[in-house]
Amino acid sequence: MSNESLANLLKEERRFAPPAELAAGANVTEAAYAQASEDRLGFWAEQARRLSWAVEPTETLDWSNPPFAKWFADGKLNVAYNCVDRHVEAGHGERVAIHFEGEPGDGRSITYAELKDEVSKAANALLELGVRKGDRVAVYLPMIPEAVVAMLACARIGATHSVVFGGFSADAVASRIQDADAKLVITADGGYRRGKPSALKPAIDEALAKCPEVEHVLVVRRTGQETSFTEGRDVWWHEITERQSSEHTPEALDAEHPLFILYTSGTTGKPKGILHTSGGYLTQASYTHHAVFDLKPETDVYWCTADIGWVTGHSYIVYGPLSNGATQVIYEGTPDTPHQGRFWEVVQKYGVTILYTAPTAIRTFMKWGDDIPAKFDLSSLRVLGSVGEPINPEAWVWYREHIGAGRAPIVDTWWQTETGAMMISPLPGVTETKPGSAQRPLPGIAATVVDDNGVEVPNGSGGYLVLTEPWPSMLRTIWGDDQRYLDTYWSRFGHGYDESDPAWRYFAGDGAKKDEDGDIWLLGRVDDVMLVSGHNISTTEVESALVGHPAVAESAVVGATDATTGQAIVAFVILRGNATDSEELVAELRNHVGKTLGPIAKPKQIKVVSELPKTRSGKIMRRLLRDIAEGREVGDTTTLADSSVMNVIQSQLPGGS
Ligand code: WT7
Repeated sequence: MSNESLANLLKEERRFAPPAELAAGANVTEAAYAQASEDRLGFWAEQARRLSWAVEPTETLDWSNPPFAKWFADGKLNVAYNCVDRHVEAGHGERVAIHFEGEPGDGRSITYAELKDEVSKAANALLELGVRKGDRVAVYLPMIPEAVVAMLACARIGATHSVVFGGFSADAVASRIQDADAKLVITADGGYRRGKPSALKPAIDEALAKCPEVEHVLVVRRTGQETSFTEGRDVWWHEITERQSSEHTPEALDAEHPLFILYTSGTTGKPKGILHTSGGYLTQASYTHHAVFDLKPETDVYWCTADIGWVTGHSYIVYGPLSNGATQVIYEGTPDTPHQGRFWEVVQKYGVTILYTAPTAIRTFMKWGDDIPAKFDLSSLRVLGSVGEPINPEAWVWYREHIGAGRAPIVDTWWQTETGAMMISPLPGVTETKPGSAQRPLPGIAATVVDDNGVEVPNGSGGYLVLTEPWPSMLRTIWGDDQRYLDTYWSRFGHGYDESDPAWRYFAGDGAKKDEDGDIWLLGRVDDVMLVSGHNISTTEVESALVGHPAVAESAVVGATDATTGQAIVAFVILRGNATDSEELVAELRNHVGKTLGPIAKPKQIKVVSELPKTRSGKIMRRLLRDIAEGREVGDTTTLADSSVMNVIQSQLPGGS
């Protein structure tokens, strides 16, 4: 974020009190903060009782081997039972769990009783295919109910799922399957995207050429398009589930049983498999969904627009809402198909009361125009959520005015794949909100802002966001790489940095500032991870994709502030001797990155240069390239090995002298 926009942010003085009616009936009140700060572990032990345990835990946190945490370790539960069966047993079997809205306009509503049958059949199908407790299952699906069913079926039998975003390329899928050592893949023939069927199965076929350990592929029929089938390996989802019993007894699993692995970009090339376990994860996903959205399961209709391939989909489409017995909408497609009012049409059709979406989407809606949402009845909306990146005050205020009728409170929720669930957010019935600030750690969560030396900054100052106490839904490790877990999150500050410091400090990788009231404002990533449309993409990954192309000798990638996507990827490349700069080559390089990493990682701009700015130790100074990409005067170049390089680069760019 530029200094200018930061200064503007902190001048933001608009304040919005919670609506009186919502405050009067809110699920969580101010008292929760005091209760949690008096007895943090007692508070979480109480929240764990929101769940149904096969064996109640007697121990809350085991922090005897920090930073490897165990929560509720002597308890046993089944996550799928908590998300499905118990609601049926409590007499809510007829309640709709999922209103599915397909992009072409097809749809179906699934009750909790129906969901229980579908999950049980899918669990039995997985067992028939040889999947057992502890095995890993990769899921590569569009936004269809089977994605939810597949995840819950895994949870039900104790298989650990690894969902891979359907927009990722075959290579990206292959490396994730290999890293997790998955033995089964669940995919579909395709899904609907921008008005037409888009195939998924070919990417799996391509990926599996490199993954001989995968025994079976379960294929959901969604689009009906022509799909190749490998005899003996591939199985149609509908054929195998159809013949299964709808009875399946969920197994009581240890609270620390691995529930899922989800890959997120790292600063070094290889994606990190973030490991989440069962009891603590579900406790916090469930509690935060209840508290932050003020969910009333009997009357609310909740809609989270994220994809199931991201952590938001895991925690706030699957585990949070379903553990709370919510009725929710799942939408398959894009917001502008077949028209730019599609989201608002969905809100109107189902009477959505709680909407959870991302700043990048909100800015796009702003760009499309106020008249579009104005054509729809959005009066059902009562709480609006934001997640994925800092929301600029203009977008925040637009969201409140044009979507929330100037009435619905906005909850700007800060969290990460690694945190598993929300960490910093207003509470809709408690907090006087400030546009652009996530404000205050939730009850039971401890966070602060520290300077370079790890010293807590006073109010009014900025630094790095750190989490100062373990939390139930924290990642347990990086799959197969405890050392990287330590290095990435625990070695920048606190005990992991300096053994004489008794306190462990989780480094989130985000810059942040505390305002005069002590409220937290998030300022974006401080490391080499870019945040494009709310998705983490590492500069290194894009760089290595670029140099994987025969025409590219060297590359440096930066995230430049972008009005729509938060950050946009800008790549600087040095070509090999035999390649020449042309529009065709640039287009080819963009496509090459898209093919290697997925379309989301395609650079918005590629600039061909003859040099890159490097320090004497050979580190690329991305800061200087970011100055160029953002059209600023180039900053301090004194640590460059050759300080004339920046002039050379600038003269080679359009408009350069
Ligand atoms: C990074 C985590 C959390 C699910 C989606 C992204 C940024 C997320 C906010 C917010 C400011 C935010 C941070 C964080 N971020 N929410 N409300 N305000 N920044 O999950 O891919 O793991 O990315 O997203 O930079 O570190 P993720």
